[in-house]
Amino acid sequence: MAQDRSPDELTAPDELTEEGARAELARLAEALSAANRAYHTEDAPEISDADYDALKRRNAAIEARFPALKRADSPSDQVGAAPAEGFQKVTHAQRMLSLGNAFSDEDVADFDRSVRRYLGTEEPLAYTAEPKIDGLSLSLRYESGRLVQAATRGDGTTGENVTVNARTIADIPESLAGAPGAVPETLEVRGEVYMSHADFEALNTRQAEAGGKTFANPRNAAAGSLRQLDAAITRTRPLRFFAYAWGELSEPLAETQMGAIERLAALGFATNPLTRRCQTPDEMIAHYRGIEAGRATLGYDIDGVVYKVDDLSLQARLGLRSTTPRWAIAHKFPAELAWTRLEAIDIQVGRTGALSPVARLAPVTVGGVVVSNATLHNEDYIAGRDANGAPIREGRDIRVGDLVQVYRAGDVIPKIADVDLSQRPKGAVPYAFPTRCPECGSEAVREPGDAVRRCTGGLICPAQAVEKLKHFVSRAAFDIEGLGAKQVEQFYRDGWIAEPADIFTLAVRYGPGALTQLKNREGWGAKSAENLFSAIEERRRIPLNRLIFALGIRHVGESAASLIAGHYGSWAAFITAMDGAEAGSGAVWEDLIAVDGVGQVMAASLVTTLHQPAERASIDRLAGLLTIEDAPRRGDVDSPVAGKTVVFTGTLEKMTRAEAKARAEALGAKVSGSVSAKTDLLVAGPGAGSKAKKAAELGVETIDEEGWLALIGAA
Ligand code: IVH
Repeated sequence: MAQDRSPDELTAPDELTEEGARAELARLAEALSAANRAYHTEDAPEISDADYDALKRRNAAIEARFPALKRADSPSDQVGAAPAEGFQKVTHAQRMLSLGNAFSDEDVADFDRSVRRYLGTEEPLAYTAEPKIDGLSLSLRYESGRLVQAATRGDGTTGENVTVNARTIADIPESLAGAPGAVPETLEVRGEVYMSHADFEALNTRQAEAGGKTFANPRNAAAGSLRQLDAAITRTRPLRFFAYAWGELSEPLAETQMGAIERLAALGFATNPLTRRCQTPDEMIAHYRGIEAGRATLGYDIDGVVYKVDDLSLQARLGLRSTTPRWAIAHKFPAELAWTRLEAIDIQVGRTGALSPVARLAPVTVGGVVVSNATLHNEDYIAGRDANGAPIREGRDIRVGDLVQVYRAGDVIPKIADVDLSQRPKGAVPYAFPTRCPECGSEAVREPGDAVRRCTGGLICPAQAVEKLKHFVSRAAFDIEGLGAKQVEQFYRDGWIAEPADIFTLAVRYGPGALTQLKNREGWGAKSAENLFSAIEERRRIPLNRLIFALGIRHVGESAASLIAGHYGSWAAFITAMDGAEAGSGAVWEDLIAVDGVGQVMAASLVTTLHQPAERASIDRLAGLLTIEDAPRRGDVDSPVAGKTVVFTGTLEKMTRAEAKARAEALGAKVSGSVSAKTDLLVAGPGAGSKAKKAAELGVETIDEEGWLALIGAA
């Protein structure tokens, strides 16, 4: 993944060529959108906040240098992610904003200077400073003093209607406090839903005891609890709420930010007791340090301090950038760090043979979590250089026995940032990265341009074989119920399955005895064993795209597999083409790389893998046991949208996004997430933003949902 790359391996923004910058902006847009989706829609962050911020900063720096290359879907213009399916959508009367970030005292001084420059004043300004709560934001709408709607932020413009759930939260008043004439007619209160550490621990204990899902951190627990389709579940979850901002108002709350917060408290909301008014940047920073020092004893997660211009008339003059106010900034806490001993370096072997070094550490607490493993990326990272040979950590290498600095932010895999050479034990030797696979002894080689060393053992390597099997049974591949990663490991260890084909011969190989043997194993009963065999039988029939994806060929992901399946249509056509293909040249090769979305690297990986005799024999054994469903060939389907590239944007009212996509694909269209010159049709619902704008610029035909339904004959 892009974000696995260490920042040191990237070209500095001011050294990028225009072409490099364009490619980098595309990569960053994709990485940030994936990170947003994981964080906001799936409540399962994949990268740390610090890494996320680093990507955003890099994007902003490149955009600042090449303003003309700023993308229509630039991450700088986006807040969060589009709402998940399942809840009704709510369009916010006023956009829900995000905040710019400061990472150092200097950044805070810059913020104050830029605010004063904008206002044309040399005079000191007052700001409020308050903790930045690590939860999820919620907008509460009160009309005539009563709560009428609660909505999550979503993408800032459209959120999810979680009113029923919000009513179960004790901190959220059903009616505003005060006499009827004394409360605003319309009031949108904004704030953060969060869960305390104690409640989070207790919830996880309860969940674990009941065999339910446990949460990685309080933020995920809060988000998962609020966004329950069944509000009865939300009711059992101890959520809390701090009010810190507002949206639409029928009358001003006060003249100052501090006054407005006091008014919200008087109307019955919980407000953060650490909110202070500060007269200078020094006071702001002193309050920040105080909050940081007390962070561990607060009882809930915070990830920084927010400063806001106190005078609301000045806030109004300062206004907004695209998604962030000019009058506020979040001063983030640094990623959490700790020093510990590196006890060993282990090598893990992945599905494609990649050798990944893992640091085994003397256990140490980093930000409240005990860490004993961390990633070391690759051999260059250990050696203290980047992929181009330039030094990282000023060239300091990492050795077993070293005192190393571990960091973690959010819930991602911890990393090693630095090493203390003054603490290096005598006799510590540079780490010799293995040139043989630790699992199978095959040679491990590094291809030119690849940061990763790979085992060449292919199927004879047990680590690769198991990882391949795990991939084979995974959700987007064969998705065999009852056969997950754990069971695959067990079966592999016991010699029941060594390659995918073995899954489909299990029952015949072990005959009727298979059931008995299986049910006598730990964790298996008669019923689960029987279910497993029928789940395997069900998957004997498999769509071509799933099969291609399941093969686990390097660079061939889920969507590429669908494109390839759509291109060849049948397994026979695909295999015949691969047999006749020559990597790098010839008509078949040209035809393959002409498939939209298939590049040279992927094509070469496909062809070489399918030309490897052992690999191919294993695939043939598998294919012989399956009934492979043909894929509708793109363009073959007789429909007005066959072969067209379609993009959906905005809110769809008659169908979910997933449905719309599946329907379009079934009609032979290609559904893309972004508008480009290749787009044939944009289907835009209410709330369509940058994509509609870009389509207009490019002259792409745009229709609404009704128009789409009429076009495909479903109106
Ligand atoms: S003010 C006008 N204050 O941080 C700005 N936001 O990174 C609206 N957050 O979306 C936000 N604590 O979810 C503000 N004391 C605080 C906050 C806070 C947490 C969240 C909020 C916002 C995000 C921006």
